[in-house]
Amino acid sequence: MARPKISVIGAGNVGASTALMLSQMELGDIVLVDIVEGMPQGKALDMMEMNPVYGFDSNITGTNGYDETEGSDIVVITSGIPRKPGMSRDDLISTNTNVVKQVTEQVAAKSPNAILILVTNPLDAMVYVAHKVSGFPRERVMGMAGVLDSARFRAFIGMELGVSVENINAFVLGGHGDDMVPLGRFTTVAGVPVTELIPAQRLEEIIQRTRGGGGEIVKLLKTGSAFYAPAVSAVEMVEAILKDKKKILPCCMLAQGEYGVDNTFVGLPVKLGRDGIEEIFEISLSDSESKELLVSAGHVKELCEHIEGLGIL
Ligand code: APR
Repeated sequence: MARPKISVIGAGNVGASTALMLSQMELGDIVLVDIVEGMPQGKALDMMEMNPVYGFDSNITGTNGYDETEGSDIVVITSGIPRKPGMSRDDLISTNTNVVKQVTEQVAAKSPNAILILVTNPLDAMVYVAHKVSGFPRERVMGMAGVLDSARFRAFIGMELGVSVENINAFVLGGHGDDMVPLGRFTTVAGVPVTELIPAQRLEEIIQRTRGGGGEIVKLLKTGSAFYAPAVSAVEMVEAILKDKKKILPCCMLAQGEYGVDNTFVGLPVKLGRDGIEEIFEISLSDSESKELLVSAGHVKELCEHIEGLGIL
């Protein structure tokens, strides 16, 4: 049986880190694509040369075209420009809309049955672009944001309580922006709701830090945005799909009435397996949680309408 084929578009910080982690987990053969001549080839070769040390046999191919991506099972799209200090994720919109549109056209032509995982920001809007351009069903077009936002929330709770991050389960809904909705009520430490362990005011500060988690790193790095945690978050989604784990993860997708969100791309808890999004988990939210989610979804909707107005698609 052939190994699964995973293509990663964009061989910059996030893309190269994703390819590296995928190869270290031996999840399949990897094709790394970028427009910069020689760069994906060089990084792929460098990673191939790591394999003897690890004892891994997956192939990593670097290319500037799409022929090698043909028949991919999963395509992770990271191409585009990252944020610089002072920029919001939304500032990236027209450049990255153009990039994601062009990339999705090529990917969809070569791999019509692939599952697409978007990483490029502004995330929710880029999932909309890829969904529209590919014409793929909503089960096969998703965005990586909730896994990262949850990971940040878990890391901060772990630091606060001095407990293993393995004990922490977090729950984050909504768009990947400053109005994401981390739900303290459903966030647990060894099964205990975090609201019982951290005073409300301190928990609110941790939630605010989670919301600004991407910006905190942009400010420190100065020349780009986070990449290790975004990469491993995308890899967790790839693994859940390829191993058919039926893992419940928060992913951005087209909501069609779920949680009261209609026809908007937003982060929801979903079951990931070999067919992509196999189920959407609906739980009942309190009025204020539901309101926060709808505000977040409203923001994404405005961005998508803005993109429509640009006339690029
Ligand atoms: N096709 C393929 N690759 C492209 C294209 C294109 N049309 N346009 C740009 N790229 C490549 C760039 O050449 C670069 O190598 O995308 C890569 C982006 O890498 P970085 O600049 O290192 O950015 P990175 O930190 O990886 O972030 C990529 O992910 O998290 C998001 O906000 C982030 O939107 C950004 C994306």
